[in-house]
Amino acid sequence: MIDWKIDSWRKLPIKQVPKYSDMARVNSIEKELSVRPPLVFAEEARRLRKRMSEVAEGKAFLLQGGDCAESFAEHNANNIRDSFRVLLQMAVVLTFGSALPVIKIGRLAGQYSKPRSSSVEVINGVSLPSYRGDMVNDMAFDDKAREPNPERLLQVYDKSASTLNLVRAFASGGMADLTKLHEWNLEFVRGTNEANKYKELAAKITSSLEFMNACGMTPENTAQLRETEFYTSHEALLLNYEQALTRKDTITEEKGWFATSAHMLWVGDRTRSIDEAHIEYMRGIANPIGLKCGPSTDSDDLLRLIEKLNPLNQAGRLTLIARMGSDNVYKKLKPLISAVKKSGLIVGWCCDPMHGNTVKASTGFKTRKMDDIMAEVRGFFEVHNEMDTIPGGVHFEMTGQNVTECVGGVYEVSESNLADRYHTHCDPRLNATQSLELAFLVADLLAENRVGLGKKIAAVS
Ligand code: TRP
Ligand code: MN
Repeated sequence: MIDWKIDSWRKLPIKQVPKYSDMARVNSIEKELSVRPPLVFAEEARRLRKRMSEVAEGKAFLLQGGDCAESFAEHNANNIRDSFRVLLQMAVVLTFGSALPVIKIGRLAGQYSKPRSSSVEVINGVSLPSYRGDMVNDMAFDDKAREPNPERLLQVYDKSASTLNLVRAFASGGMADLTKLHEWNLEFVRGTNEANKYKELAAKITSSLEFMNACGMTPENTAQLRETEFYTSHEALLLNYEQALTRKDTITEEKGWFATSAHMLWVGDRTRSIDEAHIEYMRGIANPIGLKCGPSTDSDDLLRLIEKLNPLNQAGRLTLIARMGSDNVYKKLKPLISAVKKSGLIVGWCCDPMHGNTVKASTGFKTRKMDDIMAEVRGFFEVHNEMDTIPGGVHFEMTGQNVTECVGGVYEVSESNLADRYHTHCDPRLNATQSLELAFLVADLLAENRVGLGKKIAAVS
């Protein structure tokens, strides 16, 4: 990587940096983090790159999901287990519908910071620093809570390590065993239309498993039935934290630099200026990375960003995560896909139908409508169909908890219900039923696309 150093980002303009009062403490915490063990191992990130190249080629489908922002208060085993279960359910639905391997990436074990549009928040004439996620400060509206506290960087490392430890155990320790797929249904989802659809699908899979069992393939002798690969990701926002956990791979020949805070990192729509710090840091790490593209993304700028982030044009390195909004998806996404297609640059395309569809409900809560979310997903598939390109995956903000943050869906959360169970630390998340409903929609779109996809794969390879 030409002229890149682990800290070359520090010389460039940077957005979204918290104002710490004790910089000496920030520096000593960075030092401390830099000698802690990495959370993920380079070879895992390299394997995910391989998987993501299959996504870009239409040979696999990406499911990325989790909290908008993780929080210390909700960091416990039950929440992690429930989010993991819903992701497994969604993955099963998608695997069945698409007949493709589904690459599972959690938005967890590190998703603790948030970019903000304003550095201060004013309530009743009182102005305090904005809440930037538990990695920086506390959500409560008082001076002490809102003061950015560097000790939180260490807490994020500790909490991420324990989340990762648990999801690794779940993924390989028996929870993901396909013969247990009935058990992933969450209590409060039971009896809903989604749960019944899931049950029907589970029954079909169970009978396939019984057939395979009779042929001699069992979870005991076939790891693929018993385990799943599960990866982690978050937005690369606090670069001092990322730098401290960036390590040179000393084991393999390639000897690249890897971010070891997660398998995959992405750059947000607000920090993707080509000559600024975030892009500089990202271009030098060898992980698979994502780039969020909002409606303001210009095609020429995008091409230059892609060249900078993936100069060797390797499949699997870069996934574009489009977050256009349901009204914009058709007219904004099409020119981007068209420009990328013409350029010959290789990227994966993923749909984030959450961030372009945030609205304020009449009751004052930030919410998202299931109808808008679904419309954006449909629009994403439609554009790819027209352009003969590959709709590679979906990115959701969701939780395994029974929250009422997004409105609509078969279970009908209404605007007046929002206050019932509104717990998010940032944006409104899909609850488990709504997540399943979306998985079924995407599975249908993928099933429709299946014949077409075969043709596209033949054209790519
Ligand atoms: N190993 C396969 C996979 O991860 C099949 C599988 C096992 C699976 N457990 C799963 C698929 C849970 C989805 C969900 O795809
Ligand atoms: Mn969000």
